[in-house]
Amino acid sequence: MDIDEAIAGRRSVREYTPDAVDEPTIGRLIDAAVHAPNATNAQPWTFTVVHGQDLLEQISQDAKAHELATMPAGPQSDYYRTLLSDPNFQIFYHAPVLVVISGIAQGPWVVEDCALAAENLMLAAFGQGLGTCWIGFAQGYLNTPEGKQALGIPAPWVTVAPIIVGHPKTVPAPSARKEPEVRWVG
Ligand SMILES: Cc1cc2nc3c(=O)[nH]c(=O)nc-3n(C[C@H](O)[C@H](O)[C@H](O)COP(=O)(O)O)c2cc1C
Repeated sequence: MDIDEAIAGRRSVREYTPDAVDEPTIGRLIDAAVHAPNATNAQPWTFTVVHGQDLLEQISQDAKAHELATMPAGPQSDYYRTLLSDPNFQIFYHAPVLVVISGIAQGPWVVEDCALAAENLMLAAFGQGLGTCWIGFAQGYLNTPEGKQALGIPAPWVTVAPIIVGHPKTVPAPSARKEPEVRWVG
């Protein structure tokens, strides 16, 4: 796939078929992820692949409770509060796989490195006809001691990007982008 087509065509997918994504495919996505630029080529990323649906459901429930307990008050949060209070809302949209990208330790560029790896993974998935979505709702919980324990993530690791992967059931409409503010100086 042409690079421009991949960048413009990728969308966050929130409806998946129940079909599994096999291990070699996930391996290819992780291979794309680790080709991302990263500070001093330290490659501080790790990939935890979660495919058990019972475990994903449990994490969804615990992450929702965590978000509701820690969300700041205010009108902006009201929509999310209603969504997260809905017992039928699963934060992973019943995707067959969750790839959790975590840094091996706190560090000055770990978040940037892991986020760049995540974008590579998402573009590569799109190139293979798969859908992805970054699930920020899981991030807070997965950085608690309980969340780390649920996935066997070592205490020093910092989870940056929980990315669901699966076969899209529906293809989302393109989402609009604002005109960027661009300043040329000098
Ligand atoms: C840091 C981050 C956190 C996100 N968290 C969520 C999330 O918890 N749930 C969700 O459905 N989408 C989440 N998204 C997806 C965004 O809503 C989506 O990227 C945005 O609406 C633009 O749409 P597009 O990805 O289709 O271009 C997240 C994206 C990013 C980058």
